[in-house]
Formats: sequence, structure tokens, C-alpha cells
Amino acid sequence: MTMLNRVKALPKGFVWGGATAAYQVEGATTVDGKGKTMWDDYLKAQGRFSPDPASDFYHKYPEDIGLAKKYGLNAIRVSIAWTRIFPKGYGEPNQAGVAYYHKLFKTAIDAGVTPYVSLHHFDEPKTLFDDGDWLNRKNIDYFVDYAKFCFTEFPEVKNWFTINELISLATGQYIVGNFPPNHHFDVTSSIQAQHNELLAHARVVNLYKSMHLDGRIGLIHVLNPVYPITDTPENKHAAALYDAFLNRFLLDGTFLGEYTPETMSLINEILDANDAHLDIEDGDMAILKKASTQNDYFGMNYYQSQFIQAYDGPSGNHFNGTGKKGSSSFSFHGVGQIVPNPDVPTTDWDWNIYPEGLYDLLKRMKREYPNCKTIYITENGMGYKDEFDGTDKVIDDSPRIDFVDQHVAAVLKARDEGVDVQGYFIWSLQDQFSWANGYNKRYGLFYVDFKTQKRYIKKSAEWYKELADTMK
Ligand code: BG6
Repeated sequence: MTMLNRVKALPKGFVWGGATAAYQVEGATTVDGKGKTMWDDYLKAQGRFSPDPASDFYHKYPEDIGLAKKYGLNAIRVSIAWTRIFPKGYGEPNQAGVAYYHKLFKTAIDAGVTPYVSLHHFDEPKTLFDDGDWLNRKNIDYFVDYAKFCFTEFPEVKNWFTINELISLATGQYIVGNFPPNHHFDVTSSIQAQHNELLAHARVVNLYKSMHLDGRIGLIHVLNPVYPITDTPENKHAAALYDAFLNRFLLDGTFLGEYTPETMSLINEILDANDAHLDIEDGDMAILKKASTQNDYFGMNYYQSQFIQAYDGPSGNHFNGTGKKGSSSFSFHGVGQIVPNPDVPTTDWDWNIYPEGLYDLLKRMKREYPNCKTIYITENGMGYKDEFDGTDKVIDDSPRIDFVDQHVAAVLKARDEGVDVQGYFIWSLQDQFSWANGYNKRYGLFYVDFKTQKRYIKKSAEWYKELADTMK
């Protein structure tokens, strides 16, 4: 981490935000006509934790937006819960849900905290999930209808994202198995879901552009730079396979509007090794092609890089959902094995702390995907077990400051070298639960006591404010 100096100042006009996701913060899952998502019954059956009250953002949003303003943030990422607008994913709009988002957006705009709004952040309506989710192409039609409704209903929103992290959803659901429906290494479903979600994104972008609205649109990918653990030809090839599966397939689809022959040769190698297949229908690629030059910006999430070793055994994984360091493992048949790099520190959840990966990624986007012009870092942050002593004393989360500082430095270095990065959103604004880890994996600038729903200040919030002030 020697290449990165501490950040001393932010560029003028930089978007300096905090991110949230509807299901992870709102709570209130059964009020005002909201429909069920794919998570409600699943979490209940699992019994590990409940999505209520979450951070009670449904009621506390004025306070959280007030804190954002007070601590120098000029933007907030939120998502609309599809099931607050259309409880079943389609049909008649639920006016109470519509009214809630109008109030939320107004509160943010009035405070000078610009909302950046995603339409889909992992919270698929239960009715549509039961009907095949993204594997059913009808889901795409319903998503386009829902998007059209939102574009018409919420003209106050000027910054849209279609879908958050297609890869996390597709691998969580069908490879790692920690998102419902918990399939393991179902490679066909995973790649098909990715393709179908790309199509949904592209159709929504094409629609948005045809509506000639006063705003911008893009999508969000989390990218995982992949490095061979040592430079043997076998390890390099395994890293290329991982990269194709985690990054390249989606980036090609988004910004080239085609899956290049080189990408497809790697993807086909993975599919063949796993007896899997991908269906692309006539007309799909034309839709992707049209959208590929129409994204106004790209939301990039970055948490970690992966180090890969060639591997020829069966697929298997252990997911570290508890924060017990050293308990995760992941081997993907026909692709490779994720291995620790002794030179790279990790979080308690075994996530590699590697800001160089973010720098490499930004440079790569400029080099390989010229249609991707403006970039916002829409998520980056550190899961940490913050210690709270029950008093108003500022909570010391210095390791988080160090993490964010190094990553923002990587962003600014790439920006100085010509990559058009316009903003950074920390994950997360306030503490919120983590989909597969529950309430003990905290990311927020503001501590939430989940029993009382009181907010407390962390040192990282004060640091965030100091940097915000450098823009003035
Ligand atoms: C991203 C998601 O995957 O990373 C967030 O967009 C998520 O919703 C965040 O919470 C951190 O992941 P995790 O698994 O630590 O909560």
C-alpha cells in the first residue's frame, strides 16, 4: 500500500456521498401496502435475523439525511423498493409507497443532498421470484414497466441506476448459495441470470433515452480485479477465467454491446467444464448494442480483489458469514481456486484490503471500455465490528478511516491520470444489516443502536466531514 498517500483534499465539485439500499435500511416491511420480497419468508424460515426494523429509515430518513448534510455529504444513494410501488411487481401502483419516495426525495433535495436512485437492489418481488425471477424473461417486461412508471412519477430524480450488482445477485443465488433460492454452482442459471439482467438494464436505458427526460442513467457493477497468485501459465489462465466470469462478461455486455470472441472462449470453457449453457435469443444482442453507447455514467462498486490459483478438483465453498477470520474458502471447478495472499491484509470476513485493485480497475475501464465515460464509485467501505460503549462518545473506527482513505487515494490517483471519476459513495451512510451476515457486520459512518434506533457518530464521519470541507 505504499503507492498511496493520504488524501489531503477533494477536487472541487466532487460528489461525496453515502450509500444505502431500501431493504437494508427501511425496515417497515409490512406497512402501508408493501408487498413481500424474495427475502421475507426466507429470512423468517432461516431464523438468523429479521429485516425489521433494519435501520428504520422508513421513519428515520429525515434524521439520516440531516446527519448526511451536517457531516458534509452532498449526495445519497438510495433504492426504490419495487414492492412498495407494485406490491406484486406489477398491477396497480400502491399510492402510499409512491408518496413515501416523493417525501424522501424532497427531503434530500431540500437539504442539498442529491439522491442517486437505483431501481433494483437485490429485493425482487416475491411473486416474480416464485415465477422464476430473472430466469423468466417475463421478469424483464415487468421491470421495464416498473421503470417506466418511476421515470414518469419521479421527475425530481435526475440520477438513475437500473440494477445494482448483477454478479452478486447471480452468484449469491446460484453459485455461492447465500441468497435465495440458495443453489450451489448452478452455472447455467447464474450466467443466464446475468445475461437476462443485462437485457433488462439495456431495455430500460433504451426506454429512458426514448423518453427524452432531464436526467442521467447508468447501472452498477461490483468489480473484482483478479490476479494470479504466482505468474505460472496455469495460474494466469485460471485468473483469466475468473475475470471473464466475474467482470468481463458483464462489462462487454454493458459497454461493448457484444460478448467478444475472447470473452466467449473463456466463458465457454467454464460452461463446458460445468455442463452448463447460455441461451441468447434473436434480437438480444441488438438491444445490448443500442444501449452500450447510451449509458450516461457507470456506478462502480469495489470492495476487494481476488488472488487465484489453478485448480482441477470439484467445486466447493465455505462462506464466512460470521466474521471469524480465516473461515472462508472457494473452489470453482473448471475455473480455479481463490487463495489468500500472505502479503495482503484482510478484514474479519476475509475480504482482501487491496486499494491497488481499485486503481488498476479504473485504469482498465478507460483502456478497454471507451464507452464508459464518467464513473462514480457507488460503493466502497469496510465491514467492521464497531465497539459501542453505550455513551455519546465518538466511536473510534480508525481501521475504517484507514481503509477509505487508501481507496479514495487510489481513486484520486486514477483521476489525476485522466480517468473521469466524478464521485465517491461510502458504503454505507448509516449502519445497516448485511444480506448474508446480519447485523454484526457494520459499515456506516453513523452507528445505529438497532435496539433503540438511536444514531451515534463515528470518527469516520468526522473525517469524512473534514475532507468535505476541503472542497469549499
Ligand atoms: C454490495 C451490496 O454487495 O456490498 C450491498 O450492494 C452490500 O448491498 C455490500 O451490503 C456489502 O456486502 P456485505 O455482504 O458485507 O453486506
